[in-house]
Amino acid sequence: MKIIMLGAPGAGKGTQAKQIADHYSIPHISTGDIFRANIKQGTDLGKKAKEYMDKGQLVPDELTCDLVMDRISQDDAKDGFVLDGFPRTIPQAEALEKALDAAGQKMDFAIDVDVPDDNIIGRMSGRRACLNCGATYHIVSIPPKTEGICDRCGEKLVQREDDKEETVKNRLNVYHEQTQPLIDFYQKRDILRTVDGTRSMEEVFSAIQAILGA
Ligand code: AP5
Ligand code: MG
Ligand code: ZN
Repeated sequence: MKIIMLGAPGAGKGTQAKQIADHYSIPHISTGDIFRANIKQGTDLGKKAKEYMDKGQLVPDELTCDLVMDRISQDDAKDGFVLDGFPRTIPQAEALEKALDAAGQKMDFAIDVDVPDDNIIGRMSGRRACLNCGATYHIVSIPPKTEGICDRCGEKLVQREDDKEETVKNRLNVYHEQTQPLIDFYQKRDILRTVDGTRSMEEVFSAIQAILGA
């Protein structure tokens, strides 16, 4: 099963993508997580990506597309994958379609996790992330068992650089301008499904399971 998660920053794409990946035993591929891992390791890609990410802008398509095409061609992705944070521009969506087409494949679903802008700021300010394993928490709605410590791997949790209120507003603007057009793109291909992302994490996952089946 090949799935794309769409939705504004903070809509819960990562939270749901991890559950989908566990449930259906397919890899979770998050471009944001890949960039953050590169920043942490101080790679060239990380240095370039950080300039854009800290401002809430998109990393250029040239740096993003090859990375994803390479990742989805790896062995563990041959039975499917869940893409989180990619594509987020029309050229990225076209590049993905072209690459899959060349391999005689296509995406199965694009799931839009719909959350109004008003709800987003509160979610972001309470988010805590594990830079080691990618797990995400919320200090109020989805707290870790021990404050400040990742349940999955025991690493210290941090607040993301780009979760400051000004940067979040910028990310929302970028989302509306460059990523929202993908809703139309996937609607035309008849694979768009929308879930109400304002409900609890469990309710959102049930809605997604109803779409994906089993
Ligand atoms: P990325 O890491 O993808 O960030 P984003 O799209 O802004 O999305 P977030 O990760 O902030 O939110 P999410 O939807 O995953 O929500 P989450 O599950 O964490 O990208 C970061 C940056 O990298 C971009 O700005 C860009 O610069 C660059 N980049 C990445 N991909 C790129 C690409 N393809 N092209 C160009 N540039 C790219 O949930 C948010 C919070 O809410 C958490 O605290 C969570 O615990 C909580 N929560 C989740 N679900 C619920 C619920 N149902 N109820 C209550 N709280 C909930
Ligand atoms: Mg995320
Ligand atoms: Zn962790």
